[in-house]
Formats: sequence, C-alpha cells, structure tokens
Amino acid sequence: MVKKKEFFRKEHIPELIMALKGRKEIPMKFEYIGKSGAENWDKLVQSKHYGVGLKELNLIKNNMNTITNSFENKKFNLIDLGPGNGIKTIPFIEEFGKTHNLVNLAILDISEEMANLAVKNIKKKIKKNLKIKRYTIDFEEGNFAKITKELKKEDYPNNFLVLLGNTVGNQFDRYRVLLNIRGSMGLSDYLLIGLEMRREKDYEKIVKHYHVKEVYDTITTNLGKLGIDKNKGKIEIIYNKKKNQVEGKFVLAEDIIIKIEKEKFKFKRGDKILLMISYKATISDLRNLLAETGYKMIKYFVDKEKSYALVLCQPIPL
Ligand SMILES: C[S@@+](CC[C@H](N)C(=O)[O-])C[C@H]1O[C@@H](n2cnc3c(N)ncnc32)[C@H](O)[C@@H]1O
Repeated sequence: MVKKKEFFRKEHIPELIMALKGRKEIPMKFEYIGKSGAENWDKLVQSKHYGVGLKELNLIKNNMNTITNSFENKKFNLIDLGPGNGIKTIPFIEEFGKTHNLVNLAILDISEEMANLAVKNIKKKIKKNLKIKRYTIDFEEGNFAKITKELKKEDYPNNFLVLLGNTVGNQFDRYRVLLNIRGSMGLSDYLLIGLEMRREKDYEKIVKHYHVKEVYDTITTNLGKLGIDKNKGKIEIIYNKKKNQVEGKFVLAEDIIIKIEKEKFKFKRGDKILLMISYKATISDLRNLLAETGYKMIKYFVDKEKSYALVLCQPIPL
C-alpha cells in the first residue's frame, strides 16, 4: 500500500494513478518526496559517480561575474527552483551578499524534506545577512506567480530564478514547466537553467554513467513507496534517440499487482514501468525550447567537453 505521507500531498495520488494507467510511468518528481527521497538524492549527489553536479558547480563559479553583470545594479531576490541539497545555491548567496545588505532567498520544491536539507546545508555555510522562505509546490501544476509577486512586494523588486541540476530535463513535460515559470516572471526577471548537453556520438558513454548503485537507489525510491519488491524485476537504461533522452525503466520479471488506495493495477511479466527520464539538448534545441515557451537566451556557458550548459534567459513580451 502507498504510504500517503511519503507522497506528501493528497493531490499526487490521482496524478500517480493516471501516470501508471495512462503511460506506465511513475513520475520521477515523486522520488524526492519523503525522508528516503531526500536522503537517496543527497547520497547520489555526493557520490563520485555524479560528475554532472561538480561540472555545473564549476560552471557557476567560473562564470558568476558574467552572469550577475547582467543585473546592472538592480536588486534581486534569489529563487531556487528545486535546490536539492542546496550546495549549488551557496555560491549565489555569497555573490548576492556582495551587493545586497540582506540576501532574500526563496526555496521552492515539491519535497519538504529536500527543502529542509537545503536550508540545513545553506545555514551551515552562511551565518548572517540571509533570509530564507520555503514553499512546497509542484512546477508542473501551474504558475506560482502568487509567490513571486509577493516576494517582489515584500523584498526586492526583481527576481533571479535558478533551475539547476538538469531538473527541467527530468520532467514529464518540460514545456509546461517552462511556461509555468514564465507565467511567474516579470520582464525584468532572469532565469538561469542548467541542463546536460547532447553529444551525438556518446550515447553509450552517457548511458554507462547511470549504471551505478546510487542512481538505481534514487530511481527505485518510488517502487519501495508503492510496495514493489525491487527483486521482482531489473532496471533497464536506454537512450531514446527519437526523444533525445535517457530512460530508466523497471522491467518486471513476474506479474505484480500495485495497490493505490482502493485501486489495483495489474502488470505482467515483461511490462516496463518508466521511472526516470533525462533529456539531453543541444544549444540550438534549447534556443528553440526557450523561444517556444516565451524566453530569449541572453548568455550561455558550456564546459570544455560541451557536456553541460548553463543558460541565462529572460522573458520576452508575448
Ligand atoms: C534533479 S534535482 C536537482 C537539485 C539541485 N538543483 C541540484 O542542482 O543539485 C531536482 C530538484 O527539484 C525538485 N523537483 C523535481 N521536480 C519538481 C517539481 N515538479 N516541482 C517542484 N520541485 C521539483 C526536487 O525535489 C529536487 O530538489
């Protein structure tokens, strides 16, 4: 039986049921919810196999000046959309601290436990001149203009939002997420997105990175919450060339029944349940994605291997 508390909000149950019924998927965003979700993510980020995090952190540190140069002495609230363990939020707070007497940080996350972990790590490092607000929201559900507007009224007049760690590439519908963020921004605001890049020839290499215990533990968190024994199947990781995304699936070795509240779902041996997606883009894909969702790309930064990009963008008048 699903422990409702682990999925955190009542509204998640219908979405989970429809995802399982309609597309044999357990949306990845539910993984982060609950103590186990936050802990597994933290372990993954700290493992030596998670090179992406370090790459992004270096890109942030090396380009911080160029990123914040765009601000032209205006004052901004810092909004971290899905901070994970908060480690990548810290350099932004330090940078903002140079120009803002008080840094106003807002943390928006689907997982309360993840937000708590981020705040704990941030407070260990930053001891003064920092105000933190936390909000539990799902970026897929709708815009969160109520929060962003309130921040502008109560704190500084502009918002700088960060969406790091390939979070946008992990969503079932990245268009919807970007539109929801766009609907929460004014024309003077900025959004910084961190996304893994697509290198056409490296499919096998990309997929290989996912075959480690920490990734398996993270992507199977939801199976545990649903009472599915991990030993009743195996993990399959593939690169879907049509969708340009890595997909992690649970391939059943026997028939199972999943019970969620009063509903029962039968899955057969050989059925595959989608547990994870990770979209990989080129700069040109990103430019198109941003244009279609109402943004212009201001600057972008890529690492030497062209495997990761940080993209600074702003809303365009529609
Ligand atoms: C891939 S992790 C990235 C964490 C962090 N930004 C980093 O770079 O290490 C995704 C983060 O976004 C949150 N998240 C994922 N999907 C979400 C959604 N639909 N709505 C709100 N938060 C979400 C997760 O709880 C987690 O904190």
